[in-house]
Amino acid sequence: MGRDRIDAYLEAHRGDFEEQLKELIRIPSVSAQPDHDADTRLAAQFVHDDLAAMGLNAQIIPTKRHPIVYAEWLGAKGKPTVLIYGHYDVQPPEPLEPWNSPPFEPTVRDGNLYARGATDDKGQMFTHLKAVEAWLKTEGSLPVNVKFLIEGEEEIGGANLETYVAENHAKLACDYAVISDSSQFAPGMPAITYGLKGLAYFEIHVQGANRDLHSGTYGGAVANPLNALATILASLKGPDGKIAIPGFYDAVKPLEDWERAEFKKLPFSEAEFQADLNVGELVGEAGYTTLERKWARPTCDVNGIWGGYAGAGPKTVLPCKAGAKFSFRLVPDQDPKTVEALLRKHLEAVKPPGVTVELNVSQGAPAVLVNVDSPGVHAAARAIEQGFGVKPVFIREGGSIPVVGLLKRNLNIDTLLLGWGQNDDNLHGPNEKFSLADFHRGIRSSAYLLEELARPS
Ligand code: BES
Ligand code: MN
Ligand code: MN
Repeated sequence: MGRDRIDAYLEAHRGDFEEQLKELIRIPSVSAQPDHDADTRLAAQFVHDDLAAMGLNAQIIPTKRHPIVYAEWLGAKGKPTVLIYGHYDVQPPEPLEPWNSPPFEPTVRDGNLYARGATDDKGQMFTHLKAVEAWLKTEGSLPVNVKFLIEGEEEIGGANLETYVAENHAKLACDYAVISDSSQFAPGMPAITYGLKGLAYFEIHVQGANRDLHSGTYGGAVANPLNALATILASLKGPDGKIAIPGFYDAVKPLEDWERAEFKKLPFSEAEFQADLNVGELVGEAGYTTLERKWARPTCDVNGIWGGYAGAGPKTVLPCKAGAKFSFRLVPDQDPKTVEALLRKHLEAVKPPGVTVELNVSQGAPAVLVNVDSPGVHAAARAIEQGFGVKPVFIREGGSIPVVGLLKRNLNIDTLLLGWGQNDDNLHGPNEKFSLADFHRGIRSSAYLLEELARPS
C-alpha cells in the first residue's frame, strides 16, 4: 500500500535528506546583508532545482530584492489544494564568537544539526519538499494539489512578497496554507499553533541642540535628548507591566476561558523557565501567567538604544541626539496602524520640552488566530499523531509570521502552523540547532498530511 512505500522511501533516504539539507544550509543566504545577495540567489536556485527535479513546475520570480520560488503540482483533480510556505533566507549569524562551530558549516552534535537556518527556516521548510518528493518518487502522484511559495525576505519583513501575493490571487488560490516555521511545545510534545503575535516596530530619533555640548557649561540649561529619550521610553509601560498608551488595549481580544484552561493543563514550569534564564524573578503584566503573557498578551520592548558617549572612561558630554528601536508584539484584534496613531498621540503628550522627536515605522503585521476546529486542523492533528507517535497539543506563540495574515486577507484561507522546532533551538542567536529526529518526524508528518488532507473529515 502507498503508506508502506512512502515509509520505506523515507527510511531509505534519511542520509540523503540530511546531506541535502546541509548543502542548502552551507549557502549563507542572509537577507539583511547586501554582500550576501549572490547567496540568496543561490539558495533560491537550490530550492527551485530540488522542486523541479522531483517533477514540479517550478519558477524563480525575481523581485526588487530577493527572489521568490514558486512551484506547483496540480494533478489531483477534485482534491483540495495546499499552499506550502517557507523562507530560505536566514538571520545574520553575528556575533560569531559564541558559536561552537561555524554558522554555515552544519555540524551534528547529540542528534542536533547546528547551523544558522537549521530550524529557521531551512530545516523545517525542507521537510515539506522531501515529503512531496517521497510521494512523487514512489506513487508518481500526490493525494492533493500542492503549491510551494518559498520566499527570501521573511527575516527583513520585505514588502515584495506582499505585492506578489496581492497580484497573484488566482495563481495562489488554495484551500489551506501549511507553514512549518515555529516550535513544538516541548521535546516529544508536537503542537499545532493556532495563534501568533503581530508586530509594530518603530525607530525614534530625539534631537536637542544643534551640536554636542560641554555638560558643565550647558548642562541644566539645555534639554538632554538622552534624558528625554529615557523619559519617553519609560512612559510606554507602567509598574504593573501594562502598556501605558491610552487606548492601546481597546482592540485586544481577551483570552477565552477554554484557552486559559488549556494553557494551565500544559506541563509548563515557571520555576524551570526562570532557572534556565538565571533571572531572580519573572516579570510581566499583572494578572497573567507566563504562558499567557508570552502567547496572548501584547508586549512592548526596547530593542536598541544609542546616543552620547559609551567608550572607555568618562566624557562629560551633553549629546545633541539620541535614538532607539522599540516594538510592540500585538495580539488579535489590534491593528498596527491604529497602534501607530495611538503612539504618536501619546508621544505628543509625553515629549519633554526642548527636544524634537521623529518617529519612523519599520514594520507592521497584525496578529493571527486560526480556527482550531476545521477539517484541515483535524487532518493535521491525525498526520502529526502518526508522524510523531503522540497527539499534538494546541498552543499559541509569541513570534510573528507576517505571511499568515497576508494569506488570510488576500486569499481568505487559514494556515496550518505545524512547527517542528523546539523553544531552545536558538533561532536568531548563536548555536542555532534543529533536532534531526524532529526533521525526519516532520517529513513523515508532512507526507501523511498530504494524504489526510485528501480525506473529507
Ligand atoms: N520563524 C520565525 C517566527 C517564529 C519564531 C514563530 C518562533 C513562532 C515561534 C520568523 O522567521 C521570525 O523570525 N519572525 C520575526 C518577524 C519578522 C517580521 C521579522 C519575529 O517574530 O521577530
Ligand atoms: Mn522563520
Ligand atoms: Mn526568523
